[in-house]
Amino acid sequence: IEGGFLSIVILGASGDLAKKKTFPAIFNLFRQGFLPLNQMKIIGYARSPLSDQGLRDRLRGYLKAEHTTATKDSIDIVDKFLDLVTYISGPYDSDKGFMDLNEAISSHEQAEYGKEGPTRRLFYLALPPSVYIVVGKLLRHHCINQRGWTRVVVEKPFGKDLASAEELSKELGDLFTEQQIYRIDHYLGKEIVQNLLVMRFANRFFVPIWNRDNIANVQIVFKENFGTEGRGGYFDEYGIIRDIIQNHLLQVLCLVAMEKPVSLSPEHVRDEKVKVLRAIEPIQNKDVVLGQYDSYRDDPTVSRDSRTPTFAAVVVRINNERWDGVPFILRAGKALDSRKAEIRVQFRDAPGDIFKCKKQGRNEFVMRLQPSEAMYMKLTVKQPGLEMSATQSELDLSYHQRYQDIVIPEAYERLILDTIRGDQQHFVRRDELQVAWQIFTPLLHQIDDAQIPVIMYKNGSRGPLEAEKLVEREGYVRTSGY
Ligand code: BG6
Repeated sequence: IEGGFLSIVILGASGDLAKKKTFPAIFNLFRQGFLPLNQMKIIGYARSPLSDQGLRDRLRGYLKAEHTTATKDSIDIVDKFLDLVTYISGPYDSDKGFMDLNEAISSHEQAEYGKEGPTRRLFYLALPPSVYIVVGKLLRHHCINQRGWTRVVVEKPFGKDLASAEELSKELGDLFTEQQIYRIDHYLGKEIVQNLLVMRFANRFFVPIWNRDNIANVQIVFKENFGTEGRGGYFDEYGIIRDIIQNHLLQVLCLVAMEKPVSLSPEHVRDEKVKVLRAIEPIQNKDVVLGQYDSYRDDPTVSRDSRTPTFAAVVVRINNERWDGVPFILRAGKALDSRKAEIRVQFRDAPGDIFKCKKQGRNEFVMRLQPSEAMYMKLTVKQPGLEMSATQSELDLSYHQRYQDIVIPEAYERLILDTIRGDQQHFVRRDELQVAWQIFTPLLHQIDDAQIPVIMYKNGSRGPLEAEKLVEREGYVRTSGY
């Protein structure tokens, strides 16, 4: 990592995201030696009246519980890390608070470097988007680094539809350059998602078959076996399409479907992602199934007559040479039968079936993002034994077996490291965000206007039966484990 005193400022430091994700991720980077121990400070900023020690006490439990490899000396490391953490309490809309913040950052920088020497300032907005702009303005006004870079990390939701997202983008764009803005989609930090480009473009046997001639359908699936507990207020306003599909699953789709980028430079990769998004056809109502789990409205933070979908299956069609005619089915749901995220690429049948083995199922390549990362290819093989019959089996790369000694980093760890390194490849560019909203906004407006039925499903079930029918209609042939 390039040099200079590093200040990481977490705005919204006393909130849930900060303590559960942001601080633990920074701690993990610190613990593994990725951060400059003697040349950095981490400053929390939030409204809660807390002392430095108060914030440290709040964080301590999460650092122990959340970090990926606990070791005997982890207590020491936690203390060393917490020594770097200080806190400033102030509102999100006052000059004074942000002048204090700047003063604190500058005094740490100067204690280390005097008035000379390069400095780095990373501002992480672990805040609701309603305050992004006011905070952005105050940061711009009071806290810009004069001796090195300033970067700002923002989290979704980036707007509620195309118009609101565009407005947010424009306002943020007036304050910071695109190179300064890091829009996090934490799915882009997941191991298997990062593996997609390597898998697709570094393996000779995938290169020629990854297209409409060979692939029958693709499913990108997100399931959680819990509801919106504790987040009902936020969720009820957004729904599953804005929460998961328009961002996380669509980003995964881009990596599955994009053309080979000229290089791995952030702009080359994102140029190709935008091209795929632009080739997506308007979504048809016949290609959508919405659901809501039966106990959703029991949540006191959810409106009694809410029609917000907690489940959606949406068929996305890409109108280009590689994918014309191949349905991409994006499915996401809360309160389902299990927690899982996976990509299933199902191939067409081998022509001329002399084995009469269609009943054994098709070739399918499955990439499991979580839990327990894995990639496996379903193959038809001879049933071992005297009989000449076919059966389905797997070539299986399960990470916990193959990479036993490697601790797979949390998505947030990688992404925060990328922001410090200045690598925007795994962050969402402004034009990507715009097209992603273009695709879903007409559908979202119809849903908001109650024009699409929302089917009730049982908490803990597989979701509405209609979604299974949709998947079958699109030609998916069920295989084991589906
Ligand atoms: C968040 C959504 O972006 O992703 C949550 O807002 C969801 O609703 C979460 O639970 C899932 O993330 P992960 O990494 O656990 O799959």
